[in-house]
Amino acid sequence: MILQITRRFTIIFTALAAFLGLDRKRGKAFQNPTEVERIEHWYRNHDRVWVGGEFWSNPMEDWRIHDGWVQCQTTAGNRSIHSVTRQLTNPNLPFVMSVELSHAAPIENDGGAGFRLGVQSDLNEYRSNCFAKNGLDAGLVKSSLVLGQTSSPLSAMPTKAHVVLTLQSDPQGPKCALTLSAHNGVNGKQLGSVKQIVPSQALLGNIALVSQYQGAQRRVPSPGYRFRNWMIGGNAITHHPNQRFGPLLWTMYSLSDSRTREGFVLKLTALTGPLGKGDNHDVELQIKRDGEWNTIGNVKLDHESWTATFRIPNWDETIATPYRVVYEQSFKTGGSDVDSWRGTIRANPADRPLRLAALTCQNDYAFPYAPVAQNIVKMKPDMIYFSGDQLYEGHGGFGIIRDPAEPAILNYLRKFYQFGWSFRDSMRNAPTICIPDDHDVFQGNIWGEGGAAMKDLDKGASSKGGYREPARMVNVVHKTNCSHHPDFYDTQPVEQDISVYFGDMVYGGVSFAILGDRQWKSGPERVETGSGRADHVRDKNFDTTVLDKPGLALLGERQEDFLRVWSKDWRGHTMKVLLSQTVFAGVATHHGGFNGYLKADLDSGAWPQTARNRAIDIIRESMALHINGDQHLASLCQYGVTKQRDSNWSFCTPAIGAGYPRWWRPDEVGMSHQNRPQHGIPHTGEYLDGFGNKVYVYATGDPAVATKGPRYERAHQKGSGFGFVTIDTRKKTYTLDAFRFNVDPTDGNPNNQFPGWPITLEQAENRGNNRLG
Ligand SMILES: [Fe+2]
Repeated sequence: MILQITRRFTIIFTALAAFLGLDRKRGKAFQNPTEVERIEHWYRNHDRVWVGGEFWSNPMEDWRIHDGWVQCQTTAGNRSIHSVTRQLTNPNLPFVMSVELSHAAPIENDGGAGFRLGVQSDLNEYRSNCFAKNGLDAGLVKSSLVLGQTSSPLSAMPTKAHVVLTLQSDPQGPKCALTLSAHNGVNGKQLGSVKQIVPSQALLGNIALVSQYQGAQRRVPSPGYRFRNWMIGGNAITHHPNQRFGPLLWTMYSLSDSRTREGFVLKLTALTGPLGKGDNHDVELQIKRDGEWNTIGNVKLDHESWTATFRIPNWDETIATPYRVVYEQSFKTGGSDVDSWRGTIRANPADRPLRLAALTCQNDYAFPYAPVAQNIVKMKPDMIYFSGDQLYEGHGGFGIIRDPAEPAILNYLRKFYQFGWSFRDSMRNAPTICIPDDHDVFQGNIWGEGGAAMKDLDKGASSKGGYREPARMVNVVHKTNCSHHPDFYDTQPVEQDISVYFGDMVYGGVSFAILGDRQWKSGPERVETGSGRADHVRDKNFDTTVLDKPGLALLGERQEDFLRVWSKDWRGHTMKVLLSQTVFAGVATHHGGFNGYLKADLDSGAWPQTARNRAIDIIRESMALHINGDQHLASLCQYGVTKQRDSNWSFCTPAIGAGYPRWWRPDEVGMSHQNRPQHGIPHTGEYLDGFGNKVYVYATGDPAVATKGPRYERAHQKGSGFGFVTIDTRKKTYTLDAFRFNVDPTDGNPNNQFPGWPITLEQAENRGNNRLG
């Protein structure tokens, strides 16, 4: 939008024009001083949390649009608003920017406010730049203008620090002269200016507004700075409108053969940022058939999860159908903007193998995981599976808000949005199954105890049974991850009214059972590990059979009952897959550090042993391949119950961005094995895991000890990547790939995969009809 001059803008424009005119005289002018754009619309937005698709607020829960300003809710330090659609890319060309700032109430520990430039991650990529901790500050600190290392006092300090800051560049070869000036926000009087010459390269990256350059880390509930009228001009700054993130953030969908009169049922969830009371809350779903867009659904957004879920029965699954979700953003000044997000509902892969991308665990040091995200787009899977840890508690910085529910939900949502920001281009075109795990509900581990509230909250959130977070927040986690899944098998909530999400999806002649494998699991405090930590067994000589007490749950009765029915139900499909969070065996001997020996980890699906064996006994006849994640250590193994290799195979996929490392090095710690596979890879064969469970380990994707700094090299080193499973319903085979992080999976390089992959399993191998050796 070219600046429209209204009364309010006159002052700011006068200030800008002064600089522009000065520049023009020196022959380095902007060609047209009116090419200064206002880059935000806060003056016309309704009051709300979400600051608009052109921006990323750090952190989202600490900002509100209020009365035309974007207002920081806290005086804690380093709260920022990044432009996501505009980056400073050509510092050899001039730029100018201007913003009006003030504080609504006095700030006790005034740490200043204004611009930050040159915010740049190791990638200098706009999304990752939003979380970089560097940059050049140019703003007001107490009663001085501060520009990098230079400062200059103002002649006077206006009421409420209400000033217009203007920053202008004057490129001079490899350097750039910057001039920062302040004008009184009410009468336009100049209050001072400061200059500094900086290396041009230091300006590359994101541009942002910052409340409290200095401030406490702890969130304090008194308001910080507020901003409006952010204007930008000059060719140093590149505008990419297609980088906008919202109001429609992304969509996820599933398509499943209900095997009822409803035929194939499409479920699709659209997400928006948290809107205000005055905003429109209706989302429309349209499909394109015979060249025409037709509306097939209109749904109201859920006001906690900001999701709109469509359910369309009797879907024609035989053809690929373009869709778009439409949202009309209304303005308090009148008028509206229409946003749409589009993709394709793929045809049911009925006549060819189904290709599934299987992913897990995204630690944000590797955000936005572009090598993996782009490979998934490139491989055009028929279906995508995220098995949990779509976020970690530390995602995006600024800490966790655990309660009360309302800010905890906002704190969760902005972390979850980083997941969609990374993977939305693949999810738009393929059915996606997405299940939450422990970190998604802000716990290092979870033993759900049927929805019980965690007790002894002062003892940490990761070594006890139950849910730490308010049930309202947990239910938002479930809605944002799973609301687009096929209808759940049994919707009865568990304790605290926490929702459940187990069920199945029948697609491409394959039935996928979807579990929450820790939702009913017993907590570790029900047993005694003797290690000082309830969930870890460190002593090699500890007798882990004592941990298998009667009555302990793994999947819980309701999911076991579901699996019994599912294992026998072959309507509409000929092959099965079990999707759950983690592997039913302890396939890791070292945790955390290279020498961090751990005999047994109660967080794995290896415990409790009797419940683990019962789960496998139930699914054996289904001949399902179990696909899971969580471990940050890819593994391929076959479960044994009565004897070795009598049951299903498990593929624990590599982490998208592996954080906490694990290794499987049983030979080094003296665990004996039988029947090493023909490939002869060390640490493979038939073992008893730390709990005494029978497990045939065929391959693992152990990491190197991380030494590299750049995020993608580091992620690669740490054993990150993704799984890919091709399910051939004619040949009755599963072909499994475990790709490393930084590879091109289509170039045929054998080193693209972890040692031992790819392999092809026959369906009946999942009930112990073994072929592979
Ligand atoms: Fe994880």
